[in-house]
Amino acid sequence: MRPSARRGQVAARRPACLLPCLPPFLPAMLLPWVRRVAARRLSRDLPLACSCTAQGPSPRGYSRGAGGKGLVLGIYSSEKDEGAAQFTSAGDAFDRLVCGKLRELLAVCGPPLKKGKTRIFHGLHQDFPSVVVVGLGKKNAGVNDQENWNEGKENIRAAVAVGCRQIQDLEIPCVEVDPCGDAQAAAEGAVLGLHEYNELKQKKKPVVTPQLHGSAESEAWQKGVTYAEGQNLARYLMEAPANYITPIKFAERIEQKLRSFSNVKVHIRPESWIATQQMGAFLSVAKGSAEPPIFLEIHYLGGANTNDSPLVFVGKGVTFDSGGISLKPSSGMDAMRADMGGAATVCSAIVTAAALNLPLNIIGLAPLCENMPSGKANKPGDVVRAKNGKTIQVDNTDAEGRLLLADALCYAHNFNARAIVNAATLTGAMDVALGSAATGVFTNSSWLWTHLYEASILTGDRVWRMPLFEHYTKQVTDCPLADLSNIGKYSRAGGACTAAAFLKEFVTASHWAHLDIAGVMSNKDEVPYLRKGMAGRPTRTLVEFAARLSQDSHNT
Ligand code: BES
Ligand code: ZN
Ligand code: ZN
Repeated sequence: MRPSARRGQVAARRPACLLPCLPPFLPAMLLPWVRRVAARRLSRDLPLACSCTAQGPSPRGYSRGAGGKGLVLGIYSSEKDEGAAQFTSAGDAFDRLVCGKLRELLAVCGPPLKKGKTRIFHGLHQDFPSVVVVGLGKKNAGVNDQENWNEGKENIRAAVAVGCRQIQDLEIPCVEVDPCGDAQAAAEGAVLGLHEYNELKQKKKPVVTPQLHGSAESEAWQKGVTYAEGQNLARYLMEAPANYITPIKFAERIEQKLRSFSNVKVHIRPESWIATQQMGAFLSVAKGSAEPPIFLEIHYLGGANTNDSPLVFVGKGVTFDSGGISLKPSSGMDAMRADMGGAATVCSAIVTAAALNLPLNIIGLAPLCENMPSGKANKPGDVVRAKNGKTIQVDNTDAEGRLLLADALCYAHNFNARAIVNAATLTGAMDVALGSAATGVFTNSSWLWTHLYEASILTGDRVWRMPLFEHYTKQVTDCPLADLSNIGKYSRAGGACTAAAFLKEFVTASHWAHLDIAGVMSNKDEVPYLRKGMAGRPTRTLVEFAARLSQDSHNT
């Protein structure tokens, strides 16, 4: 049954208004008076509880979770400080359904709702025992060209996420979400905001299922759910412990996600295949571990012709990076279970592209292994040979990502790609440069840059262009024993740029981009709609980029 029809029925069956009436539209100057009077009335004869805190009392007569749903409704800030806040159309409709009570309660229970702030009301309507009103900020917020993102969408994601979490705290199993004028952003906020990795805990947070409130914009809502589930898959893979997500387990998980699509082929290449491909740089990293390496190769054929030039995604898949013989400090080393974030984001982007049935061909390549110290591990000063014949002096075994990627990038050139895009948690220096604000993009193609950049404005998972100067190339090609050193000659200076310059030595394609995602690997509290933990960024930007490419003519 459509929610709108159900709401109509409820109103006809019994009076929906359960609270004493105040005039529905209040001039701003009367507000202080109204607040005083209403507060007296509410304390005298209010039949049900309302709460302006996150955890109000349970409304008597209304059992949480017994059929009732949570409801998240948006409200815009007023343009002028004095003016009344403005509901979204769903908020307005709900307020009418409860005879203006929502507006009245909002007026009496505190100052106007600021962006990202919430108020909970209990007992307004039998179908929705708890209603969370969330502040959306200014109604006309659009693209902010200082911030390089669509602020309106970001505000919706953040507000909906916090509203849904409050419903989760109340242990209500289902929440209807106001589309807030952009159902895709609302769905992303809900699905991303509720996600948490708790697979290995016996006591789990209650599961809350978000649903669209009303029947309009259901396609956009579903698109948002699919985008967010894609990012959540990457978060899951990155967050999971390294003893659970080994190279083979990673590959099997992706294979399982893609099994139902008839236009997808997954090849899980074993070590013997990697050896026949002469991927000496990749193998040199893998041989330090007892866990065998895997080269995962995905072909998604969504294009009009199976032989249309594909977009090729390549992702660094180090399922644990201890640093190898150049061992990392033990403090914080556990975070290196997410050093397969490049592989996780590109593979999740392909799973999402398949779910969206995007009309283009995509190939995904993920070299997967562990970087461990052992008697068989690379030693500083060792020289290895990559697939294209170039020799590499391994001056620091912790700069292992570029070794895997060197071989995978060589292999990527077999497919006559429209574009090659690789993602990798490659350097700590990238985190130093931009922190978690944006993914660093090093590219030889302004066409590719424009597509990535424009995609990121929509998703809010931003990118920032970084240099690929010859200046940095000189620092990796000046090497005593081999064609290249795996670290820059001036050690830490410009570390993200020397790593990118190193990768460039394995690229001949004219549209290539390297995304250094080390800075955006995890979230503390910077992105308000992601909980603390591994972030799965920039999966949605990769998906949006692929969607844009599928609409672009093949002429670059
Ligand atoms: N996986 C790390 C980079 C990293 C650091 C990712 C922090 C996410 C968060 C990479 O393999 C690495 O260790 N790089 C070294 C390179 C250095 C030895 C030239 C680094 O950044 O310190
Ligand atoms: Zn490393
Ligand atoms: Zn690494």
